[in-house]
Amino acid sequence: MKISIKLGLWFFICIFIIEAVSMFYLHQNVVHTLVNEELTSLKSRGNSHRDVLENSFDKDTLHHIQLMESQTDTEVVITDKSGKILAKSKVVDKSMERIIEKRVNYNEIPKNGVIIQSDWEIEEYISTVSPYQSKENKIGYVYMFKSNENIQKFISNLNEHFILASILILFFMLITTIFLSRALTKPLVSMKNATRKISKGDFSVSLPISSNDELGELSNSIRKLANDLNYLTKERNEFLASISHELRTPLTYIKGYADLGKKNNLAEKDRINYLSIIYEEADHVNKLLEELFELAKMDENNFSIKKEKIKICEFMKSIIRKIEPVYKSKGVQLDFICNEDAYVEIDPIRFEQVCFNLLDNSLKYSDIHSTTTIEVKKRGNKIIILIRDQGIGIPSEDLPYIFDRLYRVDKSRSRLTGGFGLGLSIVKEIVNAHGGTISVDSKKNEGTCFKITLEEKKYEECLIN
Ligand SMILES: Nc1ncnc2c1ncn2[C@@H]1O[C@H](COP(=O)(O)OP(=O)(O)OP(=O)(O)O)[C@@H](O)[C@H]1O
Ligand SMILES: [Mg+2]
Repeated sequence: MKISIKLGLWFFICIFIIEAVSMFYLHQNVVHTLVNEELTSLKSRGNSHRDVLENSFDKDTLHHIQLMESQTDTEVVITDKSGKILAKSKVVDKSMERIIEKRVNYNEIPKNGVIIQSDWEIEEYISTVSPYQSKENKIGYVYMFKSNENIQKFISNLNEHFILASILILFFMLITTIFLSRALTKPLVSMKNATRKISKGDFSVSLPISSNDELGELSNSIRKLANDLNYLTKERNEFLASISHELRTPLTYIKGYADLGKKNNLAEKDRINYLSIIYEEADHVNKLLEELFELAKMDENNFSIKKEKIKICEFMKSIIRKIEPVYKSKGVQLDFICNEDAYVEIDPIRFEQVCFNLLDNSLKYSDIHSTTTIEVKKRGNKIIILIRDQGIGIPSEDLPYIFDRLYRVDKSRSRLTGGFGLGLSIVKEIVNAHGGTISVDSKKNEGTCFKITLEEKKYEECLIN
């Protein structure tokens, strides 16, 4: 069942029950008040006849009362103590007789009178009785009757109004329910359609302007999901295209030189030359696959980080010791500034990889006689590692992409230096896995500075280990 129908049905049933209960209550109240009012006025009319009789009990008075009532829609019957009828405004019929007989059931009738018949639905009359005792000590009863015909007519009129009002209310309620449930479920339906489109691979979802409620949040999340999926799909396709492009070049070399090497009349020197080219290219492909494999492991969160508490200055010094000879051989100076006695929690093997990658880049993209500086400083509870070089720099339009996989600024030069454009994406993954951040600042032909920010690990002196 559609959600709009379900919601509308529930809403309708609830309102219908509320309406039925309140209509019933209102109807009962109106009827009750009306009948009560009729009974009270009937009783007070009987009481006033009683007062007159008590003042002067004679034939004239009885006749007068009888005459008075014959002109109205109420009837009177006056009896003596034994029930003998002394005066009546109308011929006493069977149902009046039945009511008069009821009086016997009352042990004592209060002076103010009692209601002896209030059932307006079944009986013909409603009725009250008031006792009298004249000065001459004549005792008897004044019975008052009112035909139920008028009350029934009035109530059946009232019922018609109630039914009409109920039908009108139900009608408007139905329309309101339809509109309301449609309005409420419209965003849900469009979200359902959007997710169906996404699952089919179409990410161009258009959702209504989101409101500031839960539905708005959901719609925003779906929009974000579509954008992310779109980005991921595009990135995956680009990545695959780059890899196949990356593999094609060395494989073309390998195929071409293998073809040449197959020839019979080839000089031994040439064959060795071809074979070494094939070896180099195979090695290149191998390295690329190794780095890709590393990245894939990181993507699956499959690589473990074994963090240790490490004195950052000493750690950096050990790295510099390892890499310095390579810098020296290229004629690039390597400076180190670290005055902090701070600790960080890092995986030394992984972090060595980070530093080697960054320092390898600095060296690759620096010219002879330039300087690369490694600086470690503390800012609040953060440790900042800066690797600054005076190399060729990165054009500002390339800066946002240099952490992307297989992204290289100058493809031809990188090929010359043997880079795949994977180093920085590995660096970023590792730094992020440590809970740190990495950013870059660079100016073309002036130099590049990479900044790694890590949380400082406070040194607890009394701790053993
Ligand atoms: N210190 C730097 N100076 C100038 N350009 C840099 C520097 N570091 C990185 N780059 C640019 O960013 C690109 C991406 O760097 P990354 O380390 O990811 O790849 P790579 O060094 O080319 O190859 P790989 O590291 O995979 O062997 C490089 O190709 C280079 O163009
Ligand atoms: Mg690199």
